[in-house]
Amino acid sequence: MSSVLVVHGGAWAIPEELARPSVEGVKAAARAGSSVLRSGGSALDAVEAAVRAMEDNTVFNAGHGATLNADGKVELDAIIMDGKTLASGAVSSVKNIANPVSLARAVMEKTSHVMLTDTGANLFAESIGIRTVPADELVSDFEKKEWEKHKNYVTGVIEDFSFQRDHDTVGAVALDSSGNVACATSTGGIRNKMVGRVGDSPVIGCGGYADNSLGAVSCTGHGESILKVTLARLILSHVEQGKSIADASKLALKYMSDRVQGGGGAVVVSPSGQWAATFTTQRMAWAAVERDELWYGLEQNERLKDQL
Ligand code: GLY
Repeated sequence: MSSVLVVHGGAWAIPEELARPSVEGVKAAARAGSSVLRSGGSALDAVEAAVRAMEDNTVFNAGHGATLNADGKVELDAIIMDGKTLASGAVSSVKNIANPVSLARAVMEKTSHVMLTDTGANLFAESIGIRTVPADELVSDFEKKEWEKHKNYVTGVIEDFSFQRDHDTVGAVALDSSGNVACATSTGGIRNKMVGRVGDSPVIGCGGYADNSLGAVSCTGHGESILKVTLARLILSHVEQGKSIADASKLALKYMSDRVQGGGGAVVVSPSGQWAATFTTQRMAWAAVERDELWYGLEQNERLKDQL
């Protein structure tokens, strides 16, 4: 079976100055994840590597470059899920951790729980030797400026999501040569969110889901809307009812838009290697590696090809 990896760098109205860096960033992440698959790594290893690449890139709202909460602090959420066993690990409201996706994986593999939050998640990170970084190291110049412009929570959230101006989330899905699928999603959440606010990203069935019998999904967009419609599982429910990956994604995103007026996007891979990158926002940077081809896009209906 040939492997597939698809990544997104967040669905939102990406401004011109971030358009090219966003596309370059998702292409680099897709290359990082697919090189893991090509050297025999699992889907789980590949989605972790791809998401780590975007967490390390300040262009994206995850890890370095994450949005700031109402107190001007970083609070990060992430999930990872293994489609073979339905094992899942997540963290929410963590600070000082550059790669929350790896901490989420440790929750999955080293504890009997599915999610750890806030202080407990940070204490767990310390106990297993996950490196912490000074909180300021995660804050980008772009985010400092944006946060200053939107210090008020109500203004920030309502304006940013009405006009899709909020920087949003990274994620990856993969199918490996053994037929296993996995997903991972990581985010700084919403700019000027209340302290302690947790969005969709770390919530199983909302920010991501993976099941070898149906496929894997990673979502992006307005967290409260995604939570209300359990977007990742909704997409796979449509797949369960016989829809293609692309139609299932479009139907679920349209439902979210009609029912709760939420914008967003998703990347999906099926157990047979079908994949889709779909969004209802103005733009979403995405990239996919299938056999030796690298596909990518930013605008609606854009599908470009590059050498791997
Ligand atoms: N989709 C990320 C969030 O709303 O937190």
